[in-house]
Formats: sequence, C-alpha cells, structure tokens
Amino acid sequence: MKTKEIIRTTRLLVNDNKGILAMDESFPTCNKRFAKLGIPQTVEARRAYREMLVTTPGLGDFISGAILFDETIRQKTKDGTPFINVLTNAGIIPGIKVDTGTKDLAGHPGEKITEGLDGLRDRLTEYYQMGARFAKWRAVIAIGDGIPSRAGIEANAQTLAIYAALSQEAGLVPIVEPEVLMDGSHTMARCFEVSEEVLLTVFNQLYTQGVMLEGMILKPNMIVPGLDCPKQESVDEVATATIKCLQRAVPAAVHGITFLSGGQSAELASARLNAMNIHFKSRSPWELSFSFGRALQQPALETWLGLDENVHEAQKALYHRAECNYAARLGEYNAIMETT
Ligand code: 13P
Repeated sequence: MKTKEIIRTTRLLVNDNKGILAMDESFPTCNKRFAKLGIPQTVEARRAYREMLVTTPGLGDFISGAILFDETIRQKTKDGTPFINVLTNAGIIPGIKVDTGTKDLAGHPGEKITEGLDGLRDRLTEYYQMGARFAKWRAVIAIGDGIPSRAGIEANAQTLAIYAALSQEAGLVPIVEPEVLMDGSHTMARCFEVSEEVLLTVFNQLYTQGVMLEGMILKPNMIVPGLDCPKQESVDEVATATIKCLQRAVPAAVHGITFLSGGQSAELASARLNAMNIHFKSRSPWELSFSFGRALQQPALETWLGLDENVHEAQKALYHRAECNYAARLGEYNAIMETT
C-alpha cells in the first residue's frame, strides 16, 4: 500500500486551514438544481458550469481539493485543458465520487443503501491513473418513525468500510461520508443519538476491514435539529453538540474531519464551523474543516444562471464562500464578512 503517499495526501487536504469543494453532483442532482433556476440540463451546461467553478482565480488560496463526478473528471475547458490539469495547476488536489448512488434497502421501508462496489477496484485504478488522489462515498441515513434500523446502519457502515479499504489499496485517500439527513421534524438530541450510533458502527467496520485511520477523512453531518423541528438550537449549541458527539465516536488517529453542509444555508454552515473552531480548535485531535457542496456553490450557481456574462460574478461568489469557510477554520469568520 502507498502508505506514505496516502498520509501525505490526507494532510494536504486538511492542513493550512483550507477545505474541500464538493462539486460531484450526479446527473439527477445537478439537473434538478439547474432546472430550479431555468438552466438547460445538458452535458454542455454541466461542463460550462464546472469550468466556471474550477477556473475561479485564486481558488487554491482556500481550497485544497475538489471532488469531481465521473462525467466531470473526463471534461475539459473550452480551450481544451482537462479539468484535472486546471485543478492541479491551481494547487488543488482532484478527487472523485465513486459510489453510484442509493437504492431502497430491501425489507426496510424508508431506508437506503449506497451502491457501487461492483468493479470498484478497476475504477479506482483508472481514476488514480487519471490523476485523482482521493475518493468519496456517501451513505445516507434518514431519521423517521422507527428508522434508522440496525440493519440500515450496519449495511451502510460495512459498505463504507469496504470502499475505504479498496481506495487505500489503490493509493487514494477515502473520504468516508455517513450522512444523517436533516429532513424531518426530529430534535437535535435525536440527531445526536443517531449520529453517535452511526459513527461508532462505521469506525467499528473501518477497524474490521483494516482501514488505516491516519490515511482517511471523515465527512460527517453536523449535529442539528431536523429542518422542520420547531426548536432550532443556537450556533454555539450546535457546535458543542457536534464536538461532543464526535469526541465519543471518532478515534484521535483520524487527522481530518470535513463537514458536509447538508442543506444548511451557506452562512449558517460557516457560522457553525467557526464556532467549533473558536471553542475546540486548540484541543481537537482532528482538523475541523469543510467539504461543502451547496454551502460553497449555491450563491455561485444562482449568480451564473447558465450565462457567460455572469461567469466573473459567479466566480466572485464562489471565492467569497471559500474565503468565509477558510476564516471559519481559523475561528475568524463573522457576519461583517457577508456584507463587505
Ligand atoms: P452538501 O455540502 O451540499 O451536503 O454536499 C456535500 C456532499 O458532498 C454530499 O455528498
């Protein structure tokens, strides 16, 4: 195993207060977001959008890595430069989403299992040869009446661990993403309880499969109340609950935790990450970072709207969110950054 290289990549992805840009939306997800804004759902529109993102001037000041989708990793800018080269030249490590999405878990209504293990070894080898140095796999856990079940949690945890072991075998850093969804009216306490069980199960499986913890990144949800829960805790309460949950379940050998944004507003995601770093950075065994999709991209997408003339302003919006989250890693983000 390329142990040294994997550990080096892991550190590069989370050191220097930089974070990861998740831009790996699958066709359906990307098309859904385009449709909402009246942007055509074509290969060319998706290519043009991703070109806008990866060519943002100065992005590498705040972004260490970018997660691509299979379509995107094979695409080029209009002038013929592969996106992989654009990113590498900007000092940004290319990564790749390798799961193939979720399906209903048999016998467990309301629960999902993530697919993509078939042929994964060969795909990982190809992605490494193309220049990718890390991978991502997302498992989805919904909270509802009687769910998640042990069956759902264990099936997803084992699949995540098998993926992580295969990634390390191929020289890629696995980003392990067990996402407990925000949808629903559940309380923050329920999110805590479910996330704790999920994380403990995932780390148990990572141990069982022999995954090297120093050479992986955990991408968890923050501990938040459901979107429809009447009680919405403060930024500091969310930060404290999130750290408490992680302290119970995540071994200190893990070097980096990069949160997903999961449908929080861009500002709230930055504020909560900021609070965690203010209160816990000095005594945290892990770097507390970000791997946001929507919370980095949404303002840029809403500015771009599929039009060439908006590219410059859209890039400014992406750069701004990247800078805000870089500041949040330092505990230096504040509301004034949103108005200047
Ligand atoms: P969000 O930050 O929009 O949740 O996306 C992160 C991600 O990579 C989902 O898999």
